[in-house]
Amino acid sequence: MEDTATLRIGSQNYNFPVFMGTEQEIAVDLRHLREVTGVITLDEGYANTGSCLSEITFIDGEAGVLRHRGYPIEDLAAQSHFLETAHLIMYGQLPAKAVLDRFTSRVNRSALLNEGMQPLFAGFPSQAHPMGMLAALVQALGAYSPELATNDRKLDLARFDEAAILLMGTIRTLAALVSRRRRGLPMVYPNPELGYAENFLHMLFSLPNDPYEPHPEVAKALDLIFLLHADHEQNCSTSTVRMVASGGANPFACVSAGISALWGPLHGGANMAVIQMLQEIHDSGDNGHLFIDAVKAGSGRLMGFGHRVYKNYDPRATIMKATCERVLRLLGHSDPLLNIASRLEEEALRDEYFVSRKLYPNVDFYSGIILRAIGIPLDLFTVIFAIGRTPGWLANWREVAMSSKGRIYRPRQIYIGPVQREYMPLGDKSRA
Ligand code: CMC
Repeated sequence: MEDTATLRIGSQNYNFPVFMGTEQEIAVDLRHLREVTGVITLDEGYANTGSCLSEITFIDGEAGVLRHRGYPIEDLAAQSHFLETAHLIMYGQLPAKAVLDRFTSRVNRSALLNEGMQPLFAGFPSQAHPMGMLAALVQALGAYSPELATNDRKLDLARFDEAAILLMGTIRTLAALVSRRRRGLPMVYPNPELGYAENFLHMLFSLPNDPYEPHPEVAKALDLIFLLHADHEQNCSTSTVRMVASGGANPFACVSAGISALWGPLHGGANMAVIQMLQEIHDSGDNGHLFIDAVKAGSGRLMGFGHRVYKNYDPRATIMKATCERVLRLLGHSDPLLNIASRLEEEALRDEYFVSRKLYPNVDFYSGIILRAIGIPLDLFTVIFAIGRTPGWLANWREVAMSSKGRIYRPRQIYIGPVQREYMPLGDKSRA
């Protein structure tokens, strides 16, 4: 293949280098486009734009492939667990046993919240959305650890391990306390003897004198949900983290920004929206057929379907669906929403509208049904996604911070507003 691409603008030809990644992905390197030609690219939504070089995650959307640091998601889901995968994503290597043990123990020991943060929970109205609270509390966590959140890149990078452990350990505590605040329950202290997911379930569900002891398969399913969300290359929230990091902000500020970006229903908020959609279909007595017709007629979207990158089945959705069926069988649940989801999926996969647009179930289509079966409140679903995505955000923060050639992210735009106008003083009759 040619190692340059030629762009013709007017009568002038320009050559640009072609860049190839380790998985043979090809990009035309336009880093000097404007400098050389005076023009820019226009790519709203960035569907054709490689915003960075990254060593963390590879996706082949056409083939339904997802690998973290080279390891297929199917292998990690079957043989690893969340903290090991988190370590792999953040540091690039599967940790040796001693390293993993130390990492696990440090994360577990850092679940305890600085007592100074307690009053912050009471400051929120009890009906505030957990994602808004979580974004604010992660910023506050940085404020309570100023030595880890200096905005001095060298210092923040040197203390990254400590910041990552604090964020990974504490985000569960914040999430559980946010939910307890909404449910009017007193706080429960973390138990460092418990595993990552178990400890979260304990903090979420234990009552005074009535400790919650999850079925090991339930804790395993939640751990798997965290793992399946751990990273997903340049999605909306991760790109937001990189954007904020590129300006030199500390990891706490960047993770908080990632949480805000994740909140929307087209991104992480989809897991909540799927359940709301299934519930509405159920309550209306529809078997899903009328809903599919309505989506095709342009009123709304089939939530949990479609993906910017996957144009084939999302490999995480395959694992999630199998886990969902297993957890429901194990718990002896028969959720009518699962039946509706299966019927919607079947119908959509046969329908020209969805087939021609390459719309398949994504990771969020079945995750909500598992979370419902476990008893996680609906308003906490996107928070679960945020806990899972934290190592991915941190890995991307670290990659930006470590890049010696990194520049501030600063896209351009094409202005389409009015051309220069003359200012009219107040009272001028020609003012509209
Ligand atoms: N239901 C119905 N039609 C859809 C859907 C859907 N879920 N998704 C896309 N389309 C249609 C869309 O209307 C458009 O049709 P047309 O060409 O006739 O205008 C076409 O498919 C292309 O859609 P798009 O909006 O240009 O696609 P996108 O790549 O910009 O959006 C998406 C990707 C995930 C935002 C979108 O598929 C969507 O809104 N899905 C539902 C929300 C959802 O499940 N989000 C979670 C994504 S996975 C978790 C994560 O990483 O965030």
